[in-house]
Amino acid sequence: MKLPAAILTVFASIAVTIDASVYFKEQFLDGDAWKTRWTESKHKSDYGQWKLSAGKFYGDAEADKGLQTSQDARFYALSARFEPFSNEGKPLVVQFTVKHEQKIDCGGGYVKVFPADLDQSDMHGESQYYIMFGPDICGYSTKKVHVIINYKGKNHLIKKDIKCKDDELTHLYTLILNPDQTYEVKINNEKVESGSLEEDWDMLPPKKIKDPEAKKPSDWDDRAKIDDPNDTKPEDFDQPETIPDPDAKKPDDWDEDMDGEWEPPMITNPEYKGEWKPKQIDNPDYKGAWVHPEIDNPEYTQDAAMYKFDNIGVLGLDLWQVKSGTIFDNFLITDDVKEAEEFGNETWGATKGPEKKMKDEQEDIERKLREEEEKSKNKDTEDDDDEEEEDGEEDEEAEGEHDDETDEDAGTDEDSDAKLKDEL
Ligand SMILES: *[C@@H]1O[C@H](CO)[C@@H](O)[C@H](O)[C@H]1NC(C)=O
Ligand SMILES: *[C@@H]1O[C@H](CO)[C@@H](O)[C@H](O)[C@H]1NC(C)=O
Repeated sequence: MKLPAAILTVFASIAVTIDASVYFKEQFLDGDAWKTRWTESKHKSDYGQWKLSAGKFYGDAEADKGLQTSQDARFYALSARFEPFSNEGKPLVVQFTVKHEQKIDCGGGYVKVFPADLDQSDMHGESQYYIMFGPDICGYSTKKVHVIINYKGKNHLIKKDIKCKDDELTHLYTLILNPDQTYEVKINNEKVESGSLEEDWDMLPPKKIKDPEAKKPSDWDDRAKIDDPNDTKPEDFDQPETIPDPDAKKPDDWDEDMDGEWEPPMITNPEYKGEWKPKQIDNPDYKGAWVHPEIDNPEYTQDAAMYKFDNIGVLGLDLWQVKSGTIFDNFLITDDVKEAEEFGNETWGATKGPEKKMKDEQEDIERKLREEEEKSKNKDTEDDDDEEEEDGEEDEEAEGEHDDETDEDAGTDEDSDAKLKDEL
C-alpha cells in the first residue's frame, strides 16, 4: 500500500509551503519500483549494472538504500525524467547524497541535469546537458566538485577549485543557482563556495580589454636602475686571470734538449678582478612600468539570464568508475532552498551519525580479528619451525586479500588516471 513517489512528492510540497515546487525527488523507498522511473542508456552495450543497496554500513537499512554501481571499470548511464520546468525568476536547487564506501580510486560521483528533449535510451558522455554537478575523484590529484554550466551550447567549468570529500561516508552535495546570478555550493549543508556566475565562469567575454590603439610611448623609460655614467673602469683593472707561478723554479735536472724550453706552471692571479661592471644607480628618468590602458570590450554584452534553463526535464548519472561501490541517494530538484536544507537534514542529517557508528564498529571487529590471526600465526611459527615455508605462503595470501580490500596502492591510481583519460 505504498503511494508512488511522484504522488508523495506532490503531497509533500503542498504540505510544506504553497509556493515551493519540488520538481524531482527520489529516495528509493519502494523496492524495485525505481526501475520503472529510471532508464538505462543503450548507447553502449556494456554499461555497468546498478543495484539497490544501503551498502556495507548505514544509518538505516531501508532509508539508506540507494543506487549503487556494482561492476568495476565500467561506464554507467542511467537517467530519470520529470515534468519539464523553467527556473526563470526562481532559485534552482540540485541536491543528492553520494557515498564512496569502496574507498574509491577513480570515478565520478556527479549528476547531470538535462533538457527534457534528451533521448534517455541514447544518453552518453557527449549528450548536451544544462548542468553537471558533484564530486569527482581520480588518484591523489583530482578530488574536486565539478560545477559545469552549459551556456549557449558550450560547457563552462567553474574557475574556482572546490575540494570534495574523499572518505567512505555519505555526504550531501547541494548546488543553488539564484535568479540574481549568484550561486552557492554546499557540502553537508554547509557553504563551501559561493559567488557570481559572471565572475566565477568564463561564460561571457571579459568586460574590459587592453586598448588595441594604445602603445607604450617610444621614449617611455621603464628601467629602474641604470649604469652610473660617472663610473669608469680603473686603469689597473684589467689583469690576466692566471699568471706564471713566481715561486716555481726550473728543476735542476731539466734538459732543454730533451724536455723543451722550461715554462713555470700557471696559477690563479690574486690581482685578477673579473669583468668590470659600472655601478648601478637609480634612473632619474624612470617612469615606472607602463600599464596598458583598458577599454570597454565591444564583444561584451551583459546577460541577466545566464542562470536560466527553459526546459529542465531529466536527471542523469553518466559516469566512469574504476572501483565500483558508490551509492547515490536522496535526489532533490526544487526551487526552495530552505526545503532542500530540511530534506538534507531529514535524510543525510538523520543517518550520518548511526552510519559512522556502524562503520566504526565494523572496523573495530575487523581489527580485532586481524590481531587474533596475527597472534595465532606467530604462535604457529614458534611451535613448528619445519612448516615455516608453508606459513610464509599463507602470509602472502592473507596480505593479498588485505590489499584488495584497502587498495592503497598508488600505482592503481595512476593506472586508472591514465585509463580514464584514454576512455574519455
Ligand atoms: C656625474 O658627475 C657630474 C660632475 O660631478 C655631476 O654633475 C653629475 O650629476 C654626475 N652624474 C650622475 C648621474 O651622478
Ligand atoms: C538543519 O540542521 C542544522 C543543524 O542541526 C540546523 O542548524 C538547521 O537549522 C537545519 N535546517 C533546517 C531548514 O531545518
